[in-house]
Amino acid sequence: MFRAAGCDNDRHMPYVDVWVVPVDCAADWLIPTPAEAERAARFVSEPLRRRYLRAHAALRAILQTYTGAPLDFGVAEHGKPYLPAEPELEFNLSHSHEMALVAVSRDVAIGVDVERLRPMQECMAIAERFFPPVDAAALGDVPPAAREGEFFRRWTRIEAKLKARGIGLYGAGAELDGDWTVLPIDVGPDYAASVAANCRELKMRTRAFALDMPAGHDAFE
Ligand SMILES: CC(C)(COP(=O)(O)OP(=O)(O)OC[C@H]1O[C@@H](n2cnc3c(N)ncnc32)[C@H](O)[C@@H]1OP(=O)(O)O)[C@@H](O)C(=O)NCCC(=O)NCCS
Repeated sequence: MFRAAGCDNDRHMPYVDVWVVPVDCAADWLIPTPAEAERAARFVSEPLRRRYLRAHAALRAILQTYTGAPLDFGVAEHGKPYLPAEPELEFNLSHSHEMALVAVSRDVAIGVDVERLRPMQECMAIAERFFPPVDAAALGDVPPAAREGEFFRRWTRIEAKLKARGIGLYGAGAELDGDWTVLPIDVGPDYAASVAANCRELKMRTRAFALDMPAGHDAFE
């Protein structure tokens, strides 16, 4: 079993593994759970359905390397999934277009967010409505040509914190209290991504996941 994430024994620093899952380069080899199949059936297009199923297959495959507990997910008040059989195993999933990220840690609650960069002409108006005021003001200072990219970088930072807290978009616009570490994740030029934890320091390890391994194969590099 893969070494559990959480605390760096040398420095006692919380750490997080971030698994990078390119969902469209992957074969389907993990059978969906009934709940996943039911939710997938509600997607309007086949690509969306396929990406959802592959992201969730990857999530389960990854979590299986950290725990032998049954992957019967519970859902917290605002929708954040957790494992009732091992609630100290923290994880979070984000997916956007062809990219999924799975963050796993122990002891420290984490959130992850990935967004595909795309045209967003109304980004200033969205920031003024949903970002904390300090982020909206900072975005206004960015030259217009660079504003859309900066919008998505800030968006993922803010969303990752909200997801760490488990409040999701219910908390949009709020300044979160306490010490936070938010780290950028490099997943190529087409995406912005961040991982966040409610702690002073956080060590991140990024790992590539391949979904095209046959079942039973050690799919982890
Ligand atoms: C959950 C939420 C943060 C997702 O944001 P997103 O950028 O669209 O999606 P992401 O890909 O980054 O994350 C989705 C994953 O985060 C996880 N998640 C769901 N709710 C979460 C929450 N409150 N906190 C942290 N993680 C959450 C799930 O694993 C979800 O995967 P799934 O949708 O495939 O099941 C956002 O939709 C939200 O805040 N929802 C709150 C509830 C809400 O506002 N409902 C509106 C109707 S009342």
